[in-house]
Amino acid sequence: MPPLSQLVVNLDRLTANITRWRQMLGPRVKLATAVKSNAYGLGGPTIAAHLQSLGVDLLIVYNTTQAIELLDAGITAPILILLPGLDLPPTPGPPGNATDHPFNNPALLAALARGQIQLGIDAPHQISAIQKLAQRLDTNPPIPVHLHLDTGMSRAGMTPEQFSQALPLLTPPNSPPSTPASTHSPAIKLAGIYTHMACTDHPTITAQQQRFDAILKQHHHLIPPDTIIHTSATHASLRDTACHRDMVRIGIGLYGYGFPSTDPLADTDPFLPGADQFQHVVRWQSQITHITHRPAGTPVGYNHLHTLTRDSLIGIIPVGYGDGYPVALSNQSHVKIGNHHAPVLGRVNMDQLIIDLTPPPPPPHPHPHPHPHTHTHIPPHIPIHVGQPVDIISDDPTSLCSVPNLANLANTHAYEIICRIQKSVPRIYTTTATAATTRT
Ligand SMILES: Cc1ncc(COP(=O)(O)O)c(C=O)c1O
Repeated sequence: MPPLSQLVVNLDRLTANITRWRQMLGPRVKLATAVKSNAYGLGGPTIAAHLQSLGVDLLIVYNTTQAIELLDAGITAPILILLPGLDLPPTPGPPGNATDHPFNNPALLAALARGQIQLGIDAPHQISAIQKLAQRLDTNPPIPVHLHLDTGMSRAGMTPEQFSQALPLLTPPNSPPSTPASTHSPAIKLAGIYTHMACTDHPTITAQQQRFDAILKQHHHLIPPDTIIHTSATHASLRDTACHRDMVRIGIGLYGYGFPSTDPLADTDPFLPGADQFQHVVRWQSQITHITHRPAGTPVGYNHLHTLTRDSLIGIIPVGYGDGYPVALSNQSHVKIGNHHAPVLGRVNMDQLIIDLTPPPPPPHPHPHPHPHTHTHIPPHIPIHVGQPVDIISDDPTSLCSVPNLANLANTHAYEIICRIQKSVPRIYTTTATAATTRT
C-alpha cells in the first residue's frame, strides 16, 4: 500500500545548493555541513552520504550517538562532534564497561583512532578526559579538537577565562606560532577554534567577531597558523563575508531555507548579493482520502473553529500533528493541488487535515491574468477525486505552503517545520543524475 504521505528530498537541488555555497565562499573557505538531528529531520545517513559524495570538508553532528549513526551507515568523511562532553566521563578514565556507552562503541573508537572524528571542547576539564581516551586508544594521528569560545550566545562554549586555561593545555607555552600544536600533547591536536553567532544582524555579528578576535589576539602565540577558525552558520554567512574566516558551518542553508526575511523570529538586515539563489529541497506529498458535501452554516472540526459560509465540498488529508504538522497552522495554512491552493479548515487533527475544495464564487470583476499562486481555492474546472495528490509542503518558494511561508504562519522558523516531521513519514530521495528514487 502506498504511504499516506511521504517527504521527498530532492538531492539534485541539494547538489545545486552546495555548488552555490562554494561559489559564494570561494576556493579558500572550507565548507562544513551541519547534519545534526538526523540532518534536520531529512535523514542523517542519506544526506551525509550525499554531502560526502560532493566532497564537503566536514560533517557536523551534535553528539556521539549521531556520529555513531553516520559511522554505522559507512560514512568515511571527517565528522566533528560538537558536544562529545555530554558523554565524556566527569573524571578522566574509561567510561566503565557498559557496552552501550558511546565511548565504548567499537565503530566510534576505531574512527577516533584513525583521526576521522573531531571533538568540540566546551570546558577545560574535557581536555584531560579526551587525552586519557586518546592514550587508551593509542591514536595515530592525534584526535583533532576544536575549542568552542562563547562570544555572546551564552549557551555552551568557554568563557574567555576558561579558554585561557584550556588553550595552553593543547599548545606548548613558549613555542613560536609556526610550531604544530601536537608537540605538547601528541595524543590530541588543536584543529580549530570556533564561536557561534547569537543574532545575525550586522551590529551583533560585528560585536561578536570583534570579541572573538580580541581573545585570539591575546593568545596568538599559542595558536598555530594551521588552526581552522570558524564563526558562522547559515544566516551570518549570508550576511557578511567577514565571518567566513577559514570555514563556515552550514545547516539550514543546505536546503534552500534560512533567509530570515521570511522568518518572523529573526531580523530584517540585508543579505549578500545572490543569497536568495538557493533552491528549496523538501516537498511533503500526500493525497485526498475522503470528499464530502456539507451545507452552509455547518461547524467544522474540533471546537468548531470554522463554520462553513456556503454549501461546501470538503476533503480529508491523512496528515496531522502526529506526523509533525503544527497545530498552530489551524485555520491558517493551505495545501497545494496542482497549481492551486486549498485552505485548511478548522483545527489540525492528530492525523487529519480538513481542507476546502469548494470552487470560489465568481469574482465580480475577474482579473485578466491572475497569478496562479494567488488562487486560494480550487477553481471549478479542476477535477477533484479521492487519491488526488496534494502537497502539504511545496518545494516552490512562491507557494503558500513553502517551508518559510508555513513557518511564518506558525510563528516559528524553517528549522522547526522540517525537524518536527516524524520519522514515521517515509523519506524519498530523488535524483535525476542516477534516475533513481530511494526510500528510507
Ligand atoms: C554550532 C553550530 N554551528 C552551525 C550550525 C548550523 O546552523 P544553521 O542551520 O543555521 O546553518 C548549528 C545549528 O544549530 C550550530 O549549533
